[in-house]
Amino acid sequence: MMADTLTRRRFCSGLAGLTGLAAGGFSRPAFAAPATLTAQKARVQLAPEGYPATDVWSYDGSLPGPMIRAPQGTRLERRLLNSLDVPTSVHWHGIRIDNAMDGVAGLTQKAVPPGEGFDYAFDLPDAGTYWYHAHTNSMEQVARGLSGPLIVDEAQAPDIDRDEVLMLGDWLLDPDTGRFAEPFDHPMSLSHGGRTGNLVGVNGRFDHGLTARQNDRLRLRLINSATARIFVLRLQGMTGWTVALDGMPLATPEPLGAELILAPAQRIDLIVDITAEEGTPAALAMAMQDDSWRALVEVAVTGRAATTPRPAPPALPPNPAMAPPDLSQARALDMVMEGGAMAGMEGATYQGERLDFRALIERGQFWALSGQAGMPESPFARLSRGEPVRMRLENRTAFAHAMHLHGMHFREVRADGSFGPMRDTILSIPDEPLEIAFTADNPGKWLFHCHMLAHAASGMTTWIEVA
Ligand code: C2O
Ligand code: CU
Repeated sequence: MMADTLTRRRFCSGLAGLTGLAAGGFSRPAFAAPATLTAQKARVQLAPEGYPATDVWSYDGSLPGPMIRAPQGTRLERRLLNSLDVPTSVHWHGIRIDNAMDGVAGLTQKAVPPGEGFDYAFDLPDAGTYWYHAHTNSMEQVARGLSGPLIVDEAQAPDIDRDEVLMLGDWLLDPDTGRFAEPFDHPMSLSHGGRTGNLVGVNGRFDHGLTARQNDRLRLRLINSATARIFVLRLQGMTGWTVALDGMPLATPEPLGAELILAPAQRIDLIVDITAEEGTPAALAMAMQDDSWRALVEVAVTGRAATTPRPAPPALPPNPAMAPPDLSQARALDMVMEGGAMAGMEGATYQGERLDFRALIERGQFWALSGQAGMPESPFARLSRGEPVRMRLENRTAFAHAMHLHGMHFREVRADGSFGPMRDTILSIPDEPLEIAFTADNPGKWLFHCHMLAHAASGMTTWIEVA
């Protein structure tokens, strides 16, 4: 009796002590649940004022989803909570990631059912501009808003006045109701250029603007989150350099030319100096169909930062080395793109069955990659870990395709045999063959697909296995 009371008292005072310690000593207890990312419905004002608001599928209620930002070399943890009525999963686009965390429903994980969750946890080896988006029925889920920016910071930030993330979006809305136009798998989008929108915006706003002073130096991180639109961009009232592509720093900053092309899923990091004088607006402008330019982001110039512009910026610090593949030893693969409107194809294998174009269309398949429509049961290639690979991309269709490899960055092999910069998504133009090369150093099952998501859903998806 006596002993029991004593024990209990000790135990209780011990608890009190612990509680006091936790409250006063640790701001975040070690057993804290990871931060969450909730896929949920929301209503946002996507269209300009005066038009109805839009019901979207979002992360955490905003469009784009919350900016996820972490230092290079750290581990990112997010618990996805699915509050939608449909299964979903999250892909961390461009991260050299542990395969189990890649978020591809049906390949690297099961889609997360409504009401359930999934813990994502992975290392961030590379600094740069990345993004995350749904990878379950992504043609519809990304078009409804399920994407957000993912920024990995260098230990030493470059010398700039401001860092701006600009996530370019493209939405197809019914202007009368504000609702997304349906269906998302309209045969016209599937067979042509994908689901191109009628409302373009930045960071979820039709009229996203910035203010800056003349001579301010900004880092602009452009992310194309559109499901199909290829942006042709130009800067007005600014000069600058491209410093990174698809997250990866260029060895030497490249002075901006007349135009920038940003295909779906691609990123470009710019360092720009505002040259416009006070009162004259600067802008990031996009080419319109009629060859005019429309300001996508207006920069109001207020005052002057310094009297003289600064010299060219140094290169961003390189990410951990990815050895250029040894082309003389490389396995050569051929990726032939076929199908779609205007070009078509004879036929392809779909779910193990050889079908002609008409039969493929009846099954919603308009495209094929090397004679295979849709996700094949076995991989397009089985590679051994560390194996160098070169892959020819031959576009026999009438459309451009933004080809994306998961898990590893590749380089373009130029006609003269030299390497282009590292990328995770490359734009392939009809009748202009490309070659890419990489070292298959990340083990797992990796998707290779067109990031025009309607194309991916109607044939242009395959995968490779690295073991
Ligand atoms: Cu950005 Cu397969 O994805
Ligand atoms: Cu495509």
